[in-house]
Amino acid sequence: MPAIVIVGAQWGDEGKGKATDQLGESVDYCVRYQGGNNAGHTIVVGGEKYALHLLPSGVLTPDCIPVIGNGVVVDVAVLLEEMKGLADRGIDTSRLLVSANAHLVGGYHATVDKVSERFLGKSKIGTTGRGIGPAYADKINRLGVRVGDLFEEKILRDKLEGALDQKNHLLVKVYNRRAVDIDEVLLEFKGYAEALRPYVADTSLVVNQALDAGETVVFEGAQATLLDVDHGTYPFVTSSNPIAGGACVGAGVGPTRIDRVVGVIKAYTTRVGSGPFPTELLDEDGDRLREDGAEFGTTTGRERRCGWYDAVVARFAARVNGLTDLFLTKLDILDRWERIPVCVGYEIGGVRHDEMPMTQTEFHHAKPVYEFFDGWMHDISGAREFTDLPPNAQAYVRALEQMSGTPFCGIGVGPGRDQSIPLRDLL
Ligand code: GDP
Ligand code: IMO
Ligand code: MG
Repeated sequence: MPAIVIVGAQWGDEGKGKATDQLGESVDYCVRYQGGNNAGHTIVVGGEKYALHLLPSGVLTPDCIPVIGNGVVVDVAVLLEEMKGLADRGIDTSRLLVSANAHLVGGYHATVDKVSERFLGKSKIGTTGRGIGPAYADKINRLGVRVGDLFEEKILRDKLEGALDQKNHLLVKVYNRRAVDIDEVLLEFKGYAEALRPYVADTSLVVNQALDAGETVVFEGAQATLLDVDHGTYPFVTSSNPIAGGACVGAGVGPTRIDRVVGVIKAYTTRVGSGPFPTELLDEDGDRLREDGAEFGTTTGRERRCGWYDAVVARFAARVNGLTDLFLTKLDILDRWERIPVCVGYEIGGVRHDEMPMTQTEFHHAKPVYEFFDGWMHDISGAREFTDLPPNAQAYVRALEQMSGTPFCGIGVGPGRDQSIPLRDLL
């Protein structure tokens, strides 16, 4: 039984939630391994729309055990709210497991996130403002507070003192803000302890035992390859490792246990926040893609920047994730284009590049080289088999597949659970 990693192949919002949900009832465990509530994964089941931020998408599949791994940063207030929201809609969240080693995100992290963005001015990252960067900074700085600390009051106070002392100096002396009151934070965190206690587990042990028992485990990435802190468009990235290797670190499983790595990729490209984006369309074509694709952030409601499919990005994602498959989403959004450009390479300072350039400076100057495909001008949202697609849509898909060098395992033709065309089995 396989262990499958699902990872975003572009700059996020590719449809990872839908791709994960697609795997359905044969999935026994669905594990989030990094990120926090900066993520927004939308899943549509029977016309009902669910926007998940911290809960793994498997929570919507009966009997699948959703797991928040050690690599996730958890804002407990958001998690409890999300669980309550689902419970109010009749979804059982009682199976959830949360790693005792996952780090906590507090209001003080969001405060630092927002003031540091303001301080950066024109150079701001355009973060989600959810405190994700400062929470991971505390983790690496060894100033983090973890889920397990909630249950030991003395240790919790000591750790919070360590975390807040430095931050209060920064907030008051550098940013001219009010200091955070440790007693208030302590009270808030202690309030979470009892609510969270039933879900806390040694999730690395649980997931490894599940794999030993031959169960199917899906590791659900948040954010994406180009937002990876090591391999993305640094510094315009998130503060974790969304790439497939991050699943091992953030869930506590060895690389030898992973069987498949599925990249999720849109039939065009979007990005939220600042940073380079070679195929971005700043004209009415970009507006049209945004309107047709409803490209507004699930988490912050911000407009997503839109552009054409970039095969250099696809090849890069295949390389750094070791992709075995790609799941192509939102093909239906291109239904009404007579001609569809695809970026096949870059021109940088007069030199042709077929692979991602080595430096960020080069990437900032990359000009897309386009190949043009004839559109299909036909509603494909009802297609359920590859042969249901018009010939031009088939040709577009096969060309993207060939350029990325990775077999496509499925195609999304709408947001609904059933609106997909399977191309090869994952389970
Ligand atoms: P994620 O963060 O990668 O899970 O993606 P988001 O949920 O943020 O954004 C993807 C959006 O596209 C969601 O609103 C999905 O419901 C929707 N979606 C996913 N796949 C398809 C598809 O194949 N066609 C269409 N039209 N919408 C899709
Ligand atoms: P999902 O999982 C798209 C972007 C932010 C910003 C940068 C850093 O739904 O694909 P952060 O708050 O993480 O420090 O912001 O990363 N970003 C996302 N963009 N989808 C996401 O998640 C994102 N999570 C963060 O817009 O540019
Ligand atoms: Mg999203």
